Amino acid sequence: MSSFGSMWADLEPVGRHSSTGGYRRFAWTAVDATLREWFRGEAERRGLDLVTDRAGNLWAWSGNPDADGPGLVVGSHLDSVPDGGAFDGPLGVVSAFAALDELRARGFVPDRPLGIACFADEEGARFGVACAGSRLLTGVLDPDRARALTDDDGTTMAEAMATAGHDAAVLGRDEETLRRVGTFLELHVEQGRGLVDTGDPVGVASSIWPHGRWRLDLRGRADHAGTTRLADRDDPMLALVGAISVARASAERHGSLATVGKLRVRPNGVNAIPSEVTAWLDARGPSEDGVRSVVAEVAEAAGTVPAEESWTSSTDFDAGLRDRLAAVVGEGAGMPAPVLPTGAGHDAGILSAAGVETAMLFVRNPTGVSHSPAEHAEPADCLAGVDALARAIEALA
Ligand code: GLV
Ligand code: MN
Ligand code: MN
Repeated sequence: MSSFGSMWADLEPVGRHSSTGGYRRFAWTAVDATLREWFRGEAERRGLDLVTDRAGNLWAWSGNPDADGPGLVVGSHLDSVPDGGAFDGPLGVVSAFAALDELRARGFVPDRPLGIACFADEEGARFGVACAGSRLLTGVLDPDRARALTDDDGTTMAEAMATAGHDAAVLGRDEETLRRVGTFLELHVEQGRGLVDTGDPVGVASSIWPHGRWRLDLRGRADHAGTTRLADRDDPMLALVGAISVARASAERHGSLATVGKLRVRPNGVNAIPSEVTAWLDARGPSEDGVRSVVAEVAEAAGTVPAEESWTSSTDFDAGLRDRLAAVVGEGAGMPAPVLPTGAGHDAGILSAAGVETAMLFVRNPTGVSHSPAEHAEPADCLAGVDALARAIEALA
């Protein structure tokens, strides 16, 4: 009997919003502290050594990665987007503990240290930068910039970390932690229907599309909605509407995706012309040039220079490791597991760009819906994921 179900049940209520059924698990909040405490408890229960790195990512080690490393690390993240699903992130962390349990029950002894990782702030839902924990770890996010990032209430990341008991003064590329990681393997719910089409419960990632986030600050002049003639208005909302239409048309033309999913309107009054509108653009696609063209066309339509909040170049996972895993995962079915790309960002992409040997496993999502309370994976597929992860660990550790 897998330990997956009881861990899943423990996590299920944490940060779930009663009216939407979605999760609000934002970095460095009280909910996040509960999730981190849960991770600590699971590590302790298994006799693993818990280490918090300079960025606040959590590492639970079996064996000594300093003396006998570098080790194999499996894991993912526990934070969510606003009203996100239960699986994006937690599936990888819970599956990692369950796979370790399965291997221990079979008496498997790894040849190298085995770590379970929980990355901090993967979604960047609170401070805007995606994969903040892994970017800080690898040094691609400047610590001064990170400390000064603010949430919607004006709280800085440094203040939020301090409230949660993490000292932001220590942020910076963490060589000691990176030295311990020989290989990183992230299991994740699929955020598309690739595995529904192939009819497989588990697949292996080939690549991640280049993707980024940009902030558009549009300024106008606040005035009365009932007394200001249309001709006299300086309304930034009109420029935004134009920019959003251009984003859609441009994305279609360049074979890319573009989304404006977050807005801030000032003063945000129903009877006041806005003085300022801030919009966040998420753009992705198979080609970096295509994505850059979309952003340039949106910038022109908006009449402003967008601020780039995060950017991740295309990730091509190590082909040798990918094919080896496809063979291991597909053993039962007598043919290699499917290999598929994704447009979703992951800490695995950041580690891969930093030169860590990295791979990902995907678990089938029957609707493909993600970043939504409707995100789902069937229990049998989750267990197939645990089994695949255990076999992957056996092959790699
Ligand atoms: C993270 O899930 C992202 O793709 O934005
Ligand atoms: Mn996500
Ligand atoms: Mn994720």
